[in-house]
Amino acid sequence: MLIDTHCHLDFKDFNGDRNDVLKRARDAGIISIINVGSSMEGTLRSIQIAENNDFIYAAIGIHPHEADSVSENDIRLLAGFLNKPKVVAVGEIGLDYYKNVSSKENQKKLFISLLKTAKDANLPLIIHNREAHADMVDILKNIAGGSVKGVMHCFSGDETFLKTCLGMGFFISFTCNITYKNAGRLREIVKLVPMDRLLLETDAPFLAPQNFRGKRNEPMHVRYAAEEVAKIKGLDFDKVADITTDNAIKLFSLPLARKPSL
Ligand code: NI
Repeated sequence: MLIDTHCHLDFKDFNGDRNDVLKRARDAGIISIINVGSSMEGTLRSIQIAENNDFIYAAIGIHPHEADSVSENDIRLLAGFLNKPKVVAVGEIGLDYYKNVSSKENQKKLFISLLKTAKDANLPLIIHNREAHADMVDILKNIAGGSVKGVMHCFSGDETFLKTCLGMGFFISFTCNITYKNAGRLREIVKLVPMDRLLLETDAPFLAPQNFRGKRNEPMHVRYAAEEVAKIKGLDFDKVADITTDNAIKLFSLPLARKPSL
């Protein structure tokens, strides 16, 4: 039993076979999926998918790439979705100084306003952070006052940044990219994350596991991330599945009960 805590089933990549993808996930023992909004349209589609499928929950958010084109009205609209019953988080939101699709100033402005939205609603954050560690920590500590909870999705930082995130109480999430041949440094980071803070995700359609590289990823593949964590940590697969499932249920307050695997 696993939970895919971050994917984008609303993307057009899944338009041809979305229901088949969901069926495969269910058949593979994925007990829940959090579909993460990354734009206004994506957030709307995300909520719709969650409302149509009992095992799917939605996160509402606007990706930093969109920051240059977001209006204040968008933020107001987004805040209006917070009370929808299947909405369990605000994300993905954050900073991306690797691609810099939008200006840093606009990224920071958008991130701060969505952070406030999440805080007012008392919802956890799903944070996208690439090469923006200093500004990320500054905003989380000084603007949010360190009192937010959430997850650093698709973690790509170093040991220092990891320690800061753990110190702030964040969960750390890994995708199937930990299976990549050249991901040795990332696997070293996995070793340092306490199991009670670790989450698993696919970020599908992106980051298909090693044996499927270049192909579309999908939620059932989250088990490859779980297998890799089990290998790195020297734990049984079932143990990794149980703990990460419990972590996801706890962080996102999912109304699910994990069946004991033993
Ligand atoms: Ni994502």
